[in-house]
Amino acid sequence: MTTTTLVAPISLSNDLLTGGEWSPTHTRELLHLSADIKARPVRYASTLHGKFIALIFEKPSLRTRVTFEVGIQSMGGSVIFLDHTQASASLGARESIADVARNLDRWVQGIVARVYHQRVLEEMAANADIPVINALSDKFHPCQALADFFTLEEKFGALRGFKLAYVGDGNNVCNSLIYLAARLGVHLRIATPPDYAPAAEVVADGKRVARETKAKIELMTDPREAVAGAQGVYTDSWTSMGFEEEGEVRNAVFQPYQVNAQLMSLAVPDAVFMHCLPAHRGLEVTPEILDGPRSLVLDQSENRMYVQKAILHTLF
Ligand code: CP
Ligand code: NVA
Repeated sequence: MTTTTLVAPISLSNDLLTGGEWSPTHTRELLHLSADIKARPVRYASTLHGKFIALIFEKPSLRTRVTFEVGIQSMGGSVIFLDHTQASASLGARESIADVARNLDRWVQGIVARVYHQRVLEEMAANADIPVINALSDKFHPCQALADFFTLEEKFGALRGFKLAYVGDGNNVCNSLIYLAARLGVHLRIATPPDYAPAAEVVADGKRVARETKAKIELMTDPREAVAGAQGVYTDSWTSMGFEEEGEVRNAVFQPYQVNAQLMSLAVPDAVFMHCLPAHRGLEVTPEILDGPRSLVLDQSENRMYVQKAILHTLF
């Protein structure tokens, strides 16, 4: 994993593994670039001309795969999809992760990988000079969090002081939201059951960066406290990919964290609802909220593409 530093004017790493690699300035620049790419896509039509990017997926995907494939091809690049979603083709079984990375390094110009374990991404990055981009791991989902804050900036303008509540599991999405909220000056209140808090080292980094950006990162267990006065309410599935065996227990533990009309009524009257999708109607969110007028979920989904194009433009 790359270490983070607040003062670095540019990325210290040519990888995006967590969402915490970049300085606040560089993070803001990436959101500006995303807006330019969305407004003027033709300008970026040959950014990846002649470049090949390997997409390695150990878990299923709709949004991430399609937005990377369409985004890369719309910038003139080519995609090679390596399907490792079947147990019979598990990554690292036929040859080591290091050898996979060393080989890819000789043929392609970048790796986008969705993996079960963050350490697999770290091992790839350590063994390849080409950029490695995290397309979701057990610990982080940086492309998602960047798209989420881009979506909020598009809707509300400057993010400094924006009050966002995250309710539910302190998971991969939550960890990357913390890194990004801290860098963008957002007031992020996170309510999780006591045993499902986000990673302590991520919270510590977020609080450290927040001191300089005037962000606030607050952890609590009461969802009502987190949502009170929030301008945006975010939730994600209670059972992330790879944790299916815990599903039954999680459905019981997380029940008080469901985002429904009652919980949303504690937020400001026009508060938006956010979810990275896929969603489970009737579990973490009720249909009236997910499919309601304040839901940004399809904007978040659409914006994945522009943010990822900005990431590729920056790293290549
Ligand atoms: N939000 C997200 O990453 O969706 P997919 O799992 O469909 O890629
Ligand atoms: N936290 C979810 C996000 C899916 C995009 C998971 O890891 O399954």
